[in-house]
Amino acid sequence: MALTINVRKPQFKFDSSVPRHWLAQSPFRTHLCNSFTLLFPTGEKFFIRSLQKFVPGLQDETLYQEAKLFIRQEAQHALEQDKFLTNLREQGYEIDGMLRLVEDVITRFVESKTSDEFRLALTAGFEHLTSLLAEIGLEENFFENAHPQMKALFEWHALEEIEHRAVAFDVLQSVDSNYFRRAAGLMSAYLILSGLTGYVTANLLWQDKLLLKKNTIHEALNVFILEHALLPKAVGIFARYLRPGFHPGEQKHLEALIKRFFPDAEPGVA
Ligand SMILES: [Fe+2]
Ligand SMILES: [Fe+2]
Repeated sequence: MALTINVRKPQFKFDSSVPRHWLAQSPFRTHLCNSFTLLFPTGEKFFIRSLQKFVPGLQDETLYQEAKLFIRQEAQHALEQDKFLTNLREQGYEIDGMLRLVEDVITRFVESKTSDEFRLALTAGFEHLTSLLAEIGLEENFFENAHPQMKALFEWHALEEIEHRAVAFDVLQSVDSNYFRRAAGLMSAYLILSGLTGYVTANLLWQDKLLLKKNTIHEALNVFILEHALLPKAVGIFARYLRPGFHPGEQKHLEALIKRFFPDAEPGVA
Protein backbone atom coordinates (compact mmCIF):
# COMPACT_ATOMS: atom_id res chain seq x y z
CA MET A 1 0.00 0.00 0.00
CA ALA A 2 1.30 3.43 -0.91
CA LEU A 3 1.04 6.44 1.35
CA THR A 4 -0.52 9.58 -0.02
CA ILE A 5 1.80 12.43 0.88
CA ASN A 6 0.73 15.96 0.05
CA VAL A 7 3.29 18.75 0.07
CA ARG A 8 1.49 21.89 1.20
CA LYS A 9 2.98 25.34 1.27
CA PRO A 10 1.03 27.23 3.91
CA GLN A 11 3.37 30.28 4.18
CA PHE A 12 2.63 31.26 7.76
CA LYS A 13 3.11 34.77 9.06
CA PHE A 14 3.52 35.12 12.81
CA ASP A 15 2.82 38.67 13.87
CA SER A 16 3.13 40.46 17.20
CA SER A 17 -0.37 39.34 18.19
CA VAL A 18 1.19 35.99 19.21
CA PRO A 19 1.67 36.40 22.98
CA ARG A 20 4.66 35.11 24.94
CA HIS A 21 2.52 32.34 26.39
CA TRP A 22 0.54 31.50 23.29
CA LEU A 23 -0.79 28.08 24.30
CA ALA A 24 -3.71 28.27 26.75
CA GLN A 25 -1.81 31.08 28.53
CA SER A 26 0.34 28.34 29.99
CA PRO A 27 4.11 29.03 30.15
CA PHE A 28 4.90 25.32 30.50
CA ARG A 29 2.78 24.19 27.52
CA THR A 30 4.01 27.09 25.41
CA HIS A 31 7.69 26.48 26.09
CA LEU A 32 7.37 22.73 25.59
CA CYS A 33 6.12 23.54 22.07
CA ASN A 34 8.68 26.33 21.63
CA SER A 35 11.36 23.73 22.39
CA PHE A 36 10.15 21.78 19.34
CA THR A 37 10.40 24.95 17.25
CA LEU A 38 14.03 25.35 18.36
CA LEU A 39 14.81 21.71 17.49
CA PHE A 40 12.82 21.07 14.34
CA PRO A 41 14.67 23.14 11.69
CA THR A 42 18.05 21.57 12.57
CA GLY A 43 16.52 18.13 13.13
CA GLU A 44 14.54 18.14 9.91
CA LYS A 45 17.56 19.15 7.83
CA PHE A 46 19.37 16.20 9.46
CA PHE A 47 16.50 13.85 8.51
CA ILE A 48 16.71 15.09 4.93
CA ARG A 49 20.49 14.58 4.74
CA SER A 50 20.14 11.10 6.30
CA LEU A 51 17.58 10.01 3.71
CA GLN A 52 19.21 11.71 0.73
CA LYS A 53 22.21 9.35 0.98
CA PHE A 54 19.95 6.42 0.15
CA VAL A 55 17.37 7.89 -2.21
CA PRO A 56 19.38 7.42 -5.46
CA GLY A 57 19.81 3.70 -4.72
CA LEU A 58 16.14 2.93 -4.00
CA GLN A 59 14.88 0.21 -6.33
CA ASP A 60 11.18 0.59 -5.52
CA GLU A 61 9.76 3.43 -7.63
CA THR A 62 6.89 4.14 -5.18
CA LEU A 63 9.27 4.38 -2.24
CA TYR A 64 11.60 6.56 -4.31
CA GLN A 65 8.74 9.01 -4.97
CA GLU A 66 7.62 8.91 -1.31
CA ALA A 67 11.15 9.63 -0.13
CA LYS A 68 11.29 12.69 -2.37
CA LEU A 69 7.93 13.89 -1.02
CA PHE A 70 9.14 13.25 2.55
CA ILE A 71 12.14 15.48 1.84
CA ARG A 72 9.94 18.24 0.42
CA GLN A 73 7.55 18.09 3.39
CA GLU A 74 10.39 18.23 5.93
CA ALA A 75 12.05 21.11 4.07
CA GLN A 76 8.76 23.02 4.26
CA HIS A 77 8.40 22.24 7.99
CA ALA A 78 11.92 23.50 8.72
CA LEU A 79 11.19 26.71 6.79
CA GLU A 80 7.88 27.45 8.52
CA GLN A 81 8.95 26.50 12.07
CA ASP A 82 12.10 28.58 11.63
CA LYS A 83 10.02 31.72 11.01
CA PHE A 84 8.78 31.71 14.60
CA LEU A 85 12.34 32.01 15.92
CA THR A 86 12.17 35.70 14.92
CA ASN A 87 9.12 36.12 17.20
CA LEU A 88 10.92 34.41 20.09
CA ARG A 89 13.82 36.84 19.73
CA GLU A 90 11.42 39.79 19.54
CA GLN A 91 9.68 38.52 22.67
CA GLY A 92 13.05 38.89 24.41
CA TYR A 93 14.17 35.28 24.68
CA GLU A 94 17.88 34.47 24.34
CA ILE A 95 17.79 31.46 22.01
CA ASP A 96 21.03 31.57 20.02
CA GLY A 97 23.05 29.56 22.59
CA MET A 98 20.39 26.84 22.54
CA LEU A 99 20.28 26.80 18.72
CA ARG A 100 24.09 26.35 18.71
CA LEU A 101 23.80 23.50 21.21
CA VAL A 102 21.18 21.72 19.07
CA GLU A 103 23.35 22.19 15.97
CA ASP A 104 26.42 20.87 17.81
CA VAL A 105 24.61 17.78 19.13
CA ILE A 106 23.22 16.93 15.70
CA THR A 107 26.17 17.74 13.46
CA ARG A 108 29.29 17.41 15.63
CA PHE A 109 28.22 14.69 18.02
CA VAL A 110 25.78 12.55 15.98
CA GLU A 111 26.49 13.20 12.33
CA SER A 112 30.27 13.06 12.37
CA LYS A 113 30.53 9.98 14.58
CA THR A 114 27.93 7.54 13.20
CA SER A 115 27.46 5.45 10.07
CA ASP A 116 25.06 6.33 7.24
CA GLU A 117 22.94 3.30 8.21
CA PHE A 118 22.76 4.30 11.86
CA ARG A 119 21.71 7.86 10.97
CA LEU A 120 18.95 6.38 8.83
CA ALA A 121 17.82 4.18 11.78
CA LEU A 122 17.99 7.26 14.00
CA THR A 123 15.85 9.23 11.53
CA ALA A 124 13.29 6.40 11.39
CA GLY A 125 13.25 6.45 15.21
CA PHE A 126 12.76 10.24 15.30
CA GLU A 127 9.95 9.90 12.77
CA HIS A 128 8.17 7.42 15.04
CA LEU A 129 8.48 9.94 17.88
CA THR A 130 7.20 12.88 15.81
CA SER A 131 4.28 10.73 14.64
CA LEU A 132 3.70 9.73 18.29
CA LEU A 133 3.63 13.39 19.38
CA ALA A 134 1.37 14.28 16.46
CA GLU A 135 -1.05 11.47 17.33
CA ILE A 136 -1.29 12.45 21.00
CA GLY A 137 -1.39 16.20 20.19
CA LEU A 138 -4.32 15.80 17.78
CA GLU A 139 -6.16 13.16 19.85
CA GLU A 140 -5.94 15.35 22.92
CA ASN A 141 -6.86 18.51 21.00
CA PHE A 142 -3.76 19.95 22.64
CA PHE A 143 -3.82 23.14 20.54
CA GLU A 144 -7.50 23.94 21.09
CA ASN A 145 -6.71 27.05 23.13
CA ALA A 146 -3.61 28.12 21.24
CA HIS A 147 -3.21 31.40 19.35
CA PRO A 148 -4.80 30.68 15.92
CA GLN A 149 -1.56 31.16 13.96
CA MET A 150 0.31 28.72 16.22
CA LYS A 151 -2.60 26.25 16.24
CA ALA A 152 -2.52 26.22 12.43
CA LEU A 153 1.27 25.75 12.38
CA PHE A 154 1.40 22.85 14.83
CA GLU A 155 -1.69 21.04 13.51
CA TRP A 156 -0.46 21.29 9.90
CA HIS A 157 2.92 19.93 10.99
CA ALA A 158 1.26 17.12 12.98
CA LEU A 159 -0.87 16.12 10.00
CA GLU A 160 2.14 15.83 7.70
CA GLU A 161 4.18 13.93 10.31
CA ILE A 162 1.38 11.34 10.36
CA GLU A 163 1.17 11.31 6.55
CA HIS A 164 4.85 10.52 6.03
CA ARG A 165 5.32 8.38 9.17
CA ALA A 166 6.34 5.24 7.24
CA VAL A 167 8.79 6.67 4.73
CA ALA A 168 12.06 6.70 6.71
CA PHE A 169 11.08 3.30 8.17
CA ASP A 170 10.57 1.83 4.69
CA VAL A 171 13.83 3.29 3.40
CA LEU A 172 15.60 1.79 6.43
CA GLN A 173 13.98 -1.61 5.84
CA SER A 174 15.05 -1.54 2.20
CA VAL A 175 18.66 -0.80 3.19
CA ASP A 176 19.07 -2.72 6.43
CA SER A 177 16.40 -4.85 8.11
CA ASN A 178 18.48 -5.45 11.25
CA TYR A 179 16.02 -5.27 14.16
CA PHE A 180 18.63 -4.23 16.70
CA ARG A 181 19.78 -1.27 14.62
CA ARG A 182 16.15 -0.17 14.26
CA ALA A 183 15.58 -0.46 18.04
CA ALA A 184 18.86 1.33 18.81
CA GLY A 185 17.80 4.12 16.43
CA LEU A 186 14.57 4.64 18.37
CA MET A 187 16.25 4.56 21.79
CA SER A 188 18.93 7.03 20.68
CA ALA A 189 16.31 9.31 19.12
CA TYR A 190 14.36 9.24 22.39
CA LEU A 191 17.43 10.18 24.45
CA ILE A 192 18.36 13.06 22.13
CA LEU A 193 14.81 14.39 21.81
CA SER A 194 13.94 14.20 25.50
CA GLY A 195 17.33 15.62 26.55
CA LEU A 196 17.17 18.60 24.20
CA THR A 197 13.47 19.42 24.62
CA GLY A 198 13.81 19.07 28.41
CA TYR A 199 16.79 21.43 28.49
CA VAL A 200 15.27 24.02 26.13
CA THR A 201 11.88 24.00 27.92
CA ALA A 202 13.59 24.47 31.29
CA ASN A 203 15.82 27.24 29.91
CA LEU A 204 12.88 29.22 28.47
CA LEU A 205 10.93 28.84 31.73
CA TRP A 206 14.03 29.97 33.63
CA GLN A 207 14.24 33.07 31.41
CA ASP A 208 10.62 33.79 32.42
CA LYS A 209 11.65 33.23 36.07
CA LEU A 210 8.96 30.54 36.27
CA LEU A 211 11.03 27.34 36.25
CA LEU A 212 10.29 25.94 39.70
CA LYS A 213 7.02 27.74 40.42
CA LYS A 214 4.05 25.77 41.76
CA ASN A 215 1.92 26.51 38.67
CA THR A 216 4.65 25.32 36.30
CA ILE A 217 4.99 22.01 38.16
CA HIS A 218 1.21 21.62 38.21
CA GLU A 219 1.02 22.26 34.46
CA ALA A 220 3.80 19.74 33.81
CA LEU A 221 1.87 17.15 35.84
CA ASN A 222 -1.29 17.99 33.88
CA VAL A 223 0.41 17.54 30.52
CA PHE A 224 2.40 14.42 31.35
CA ILE A 225 0.07 12.55 33.72
CA LEU A 226 -3.21 14.07 34.92
CA GLU A 227 -5.03 15.86 32.08
CA HIS A 228 -3.44 14.73 28.80
CA ALA A 229 -1.54 11.69 30.19
CA LEU A 230 1.15 12.18 27.56
CA LEU A 231 3.56 9.89 29.42
CA PRO A 232 1.43 6.71 29.72
CA LYS A 233 0.06 7.20 26.19
CA ALA A 234 3.56 7.73 24.80
CA VAL A 235 4.85 4.54 26.45
CA GLY A 236 2.25 2.45 24.59
CA ILE A 237 2.91 4.07 21.20
CA PHE A 238 6.67 3.96 21.78
CA ALA A 239 6.47 0.23 22.44
CA ARG A 240 4.62 -0.44 19.15
CA TYR A 241 7.86 0.28 17.30
CA LEU A 242 9.74 -2.36 19.27
CA ARG A 243 7.44 -5.17 18.15
CA PRO A 244 9.53 -7.09 15.56
CA GLY A 245 6.77 -7.18 12.89
CA PHE A 246 5.70 -3.54 13.32
CA HIS A 247 5.07 -1.31 10.32
CA PRO A 248 3.97 2.38 10.72
CA GLY A 249 1.34 1.96 7.99
CA GLU A 250 -0.63 -0.51 10.16
CA GLN A 251 -1.84 2.30 12.45
CA LYS A 252 -5.12 2.72 10.60
CA HIS A 253 -6.75 4.79 13.37
CA LEU A 254 -4.43 7.63 12.35
CA GLU A 255 -6.26 7.97 9.03
CA ALA A 256 -9.53 8.61 10.92
CA LEU A 257 -7.74 11.13 13.12
CA ILE A 258 -6.52 13.05 10.07
CA LYS A 259 -10.05 13.06 8.63
CA ARG A 260 -11.44 14.45 11.88
CA PHE A 261 -9.08 17.42 11.87
CA PHE A 262 -8.68 17.94 8.16
CA PRO A 263 -11.83 16.72 6.35
CA ASP A 264 -10.47 17.97 3.03
CA ALA A 265 -7.13 16.16 3.32
CA GLU A 266 -6.39 13.38 0.88
CA PRO A 267 -6.55 9.95 2.56
CA GLY A 268 -3.25 8.94 4.17
CA VAL A 269 -3.21 5.49 2.59
CA ALA A 270 -4.18 4.94 -1.04
FE1 LIG B 1 8.52 17.69 10.19
FE1 LIG C 1 8.79 13.94 9.85
